[in-house]
Amino acid sequence: MKFLQPLLVLLFIVVSIDTTAQVPQDAKMKTFVDGLMSKMTLDEKIGQLNLPGAGDITTGQAGSSDIGKKIGEGKVGGLFNIKSVAKIRDVQKVAVEQSRLKIPLIFGMDVIHGYQTVFPIPLALSCSWDMQKIEQSARIAAVEASADGICWTFSPMVDIARDPRWGRIAEGNGEDPYLGYQIAKAMVKGYQGDDLKKNNTIMACVKHFALYGAAEAGRDYNTTDMSRVRMYNEYFPPYKGAVDGGVGSVMSSFNEVDGIPATANKFLMTDVLRKQWGFKGFVVTDYTAINEMIDHGMGDLQTVSALALNAGIDMDMVGEGFLTTLKKSLQEKKVTQKQIDDACRRILEAKYKLGLFDDPYRYCDEKRASTEIYTDANRRAAREIAADCFVLLKNSPLPGGTGMAVLPLKKSGTIALIGPLADAKENMPGTWSVAADFSKAISVLQGLNETVGNKAKLLYAKGSFLDDDSVFEQRAGMFGKSFKRDGRTKEQLLQEALNIASQSDVIIAALGESAEMTGESSSRSSIEIPQTQKELLAALLKTGKPVVLVLFTGRPLAIKWEDASVPAILNVWFGGSEAGYAISDVLFGDVNPSGKLTTTWPQNVGQVPLYYNHKNTGRPLPEGKWFQKFRSNYLDVSNDALYPFGYGLSYTNFTYGDLKLSSTSLKGNQTLTASVTVTNSGSLDGKEVVQLYVRDVVGSMTRPVKELKGFQKISLKAGETKTVTFNITTNDLKFYNSNLKYDWEAGDFVIMVGGNSRDVKSQKVNWVK
Ligand code: BGC
Repeated sequence: MKFLQPLLVLLFIVVSIDTTAQVPQDAKMKTFVDGLMSKMTLDEKIGQLNLPGAGDITTGQAGSSDIGKKIGEGKVGGLFNIKSVAKIRDVQKVAVEQSRLKIPLIFGMDVIHGYQTVFPIPLALSCSWDMQKIEQSARIAAVEASADGICWTFSPMVDIARDPRWGRIAEGNGEDPYLGYQIAKAMVKGYQGDDLKKNNTIMACVKHFALYGAAEAGRDYNTTDMSRVRMYNEYFPPYKGAVDGGVGSVMSSFNEVDGIPATANKFLMTDVLRKQWGFKGFVVTDYTAINEMIDHGMGDLQTVSALALNAGIDMDMVGEGFLTTLKKSLQEKKVTQKQIDDACRRILEAKYKLGLFDDPYRYCDEKRASTEIYTDANRRAAREIAADCFVLLKNSPLPGGTGMAVLPLKKSGTIALIGPLADAKENMPGTWSVAADFSKAISVLQGLNETVGNKAKLLYAKGSFLDDDSVFEQRAGMFGKSFKRDGRTKEQLLQEALNIASQSDVIIAALGESAEMTGESSSRSSIEIPQTQKELLAALLKTGKPVVLVLFTGRPLAIKWEDASVPAILNVWFGGSEAGYAISDVLFGDVNPSGKLTTTWPQNVGQVPLYYNHKNTGRPLPEGKWFQKFRSNYLDVSNDALYPFGYGLSYTNFTYGDLKLSSTSLKGNQTLTASVTVTNSGSLDGKEVVQLYVRDVVGSMTRPVKELKGFQKISLKAGETKTVTFNITTNDLKFYNSNLKYDWEAGDFVIMVGGNSRDVKSQKVNWVK
């Protein structure tokens, strides 16, 4: 025992150092910020709350530009949309040499799914269900962005979206709160790492708080209105995930919540965020969100700026409402000195945490910029991750009874690659790829050409316009992503396609949406593939050759006809800068697809919003039925999804054994284990996402028909069987009840495990308090 004593003492010291470690750090920061703030004038404090866009800055002229002058006068807290170490260094120099208190600026950017090495759009990334890979994508983005001078990203975007008409569904992680929570956490960890002061970690900003994805009719910036229980149970969890993960900042959303724009919403910004969730960072508005409250009908600029500060907003993006009105509002007692001080303190603290006061040029290392961006290793990671995000929606057997499916393809014979997305490198990175170099992005044509080499003959034709309406096509080809019409007519394009199709053994049709048909301000009222492309597809199918649809999209599409007519469909979203290679990897079977949908795909737009975790209603339609009078259904379409949440095929098959539970009658804090064997019963190695769902059968309020409560992505060799086990505790049964109390209720629960939300093995348990 004696020899243990020194060890115990040591342990005690380690534990005491560890638990108190945070305190001296925080105390140090407080002393520093207190000291700085004691020297600041009111104007300088308000200046810290101002976040303009970079505007007219060109390298070498930062000091003399309009924005440079403001920085010198201490009227700017940070800047965004500025790219390159040289420019950022120049501007930072103005802040730390010309402004009175030499306070460094924070530099932000929309680094949403990669920097110059671009990863798949977030909706696609979520379909990997692979938290390590998602974190890795954010880590690489942070390394590249910080190597180029950026220390703050406006990501992750975690808005739950159930309406595919909304273009920004592409930027989020789909419809599920549990999965959204995990992804938000993984992204924050990837960006922020374990130490924000390191020069290759950056501060994350979770957005858009809150409920932006519930815009009515899927129209961007539109009104939202929902019950508190829905907010807490279904829409808040991903934001909470980011806060639990230590996110440094939060962005307010454009929409209103309960009749008050989010940017003036005290309930959101103070009660929920700070009081209930304990958020300690700062809140920035979305782009001109304060000024937009004038149009919302909340008052003039002075009024809405005061409302925002009162609600708990710290930083004003672009609109300069804070800069131009807060002083007056203070004199008129519409805001308090403490509110201004608190906001200023939080921004200074963020700069402190990033290490900018130690070294304002921490992120301005030209050497890093030349060696750490768009590296071979990063590009390899992007290619690998992209292939893991693609979702195989359909893969029928080839005619002839061999049992072979259309995919994977062989690298032999003649392959016709046809479609407006086939040779469209600018469209591969997807929406929000502000730091991408489009000229280097890998198109499908290039990817196939390089990977097939001379093993097969590859023929290419555009086949059709993106859309016959050239005005629509222009809108869908913004930001340098134009489809460049060259004078050929629709008929000529089709004829060329049919010519090469007739010479081929197989046709790859690269069709769907362009990158800018989703993203901000890109809502659609039709969610189908544009008609002209459908006509092309129909003509290709008519040739009788096997057709593979390589589908580009940033949203769930309504592709009922395509599903019924095309033998194989691989959904590739927008796969990032290496998309063309990744698509080739999957088409030829070098990678077995393993992505699973994180949104329900409806049969038609009229079913929207359609989501798996819905309520049962008092008149549910019996399973497998289409229509019954006086039941909750449609006359003209069944209630089923075309592809359910969690769905995605593989080139191999996975067979699920029976669901085994450790007990069917549980009490209190016991743990229930649910296990299932999964067998790879096909002939190729593959990966499967095993999903756990729970239904709370009876509650004090109505409960969803199922809710995701766990998932595991496993690798199985051909013929291999693994047992997958989930541990379920009463924490997994908790929900916010109608008094907004978070607790579980005793009763019956259905436990379900399966490879998607529709095809599950289930068993009932009873759980008492
Ligand atoms: C978008 C945000 C984005 C911001 C800055 C806004 O229009 O809604 O998501 O971070 O612009 O670019």
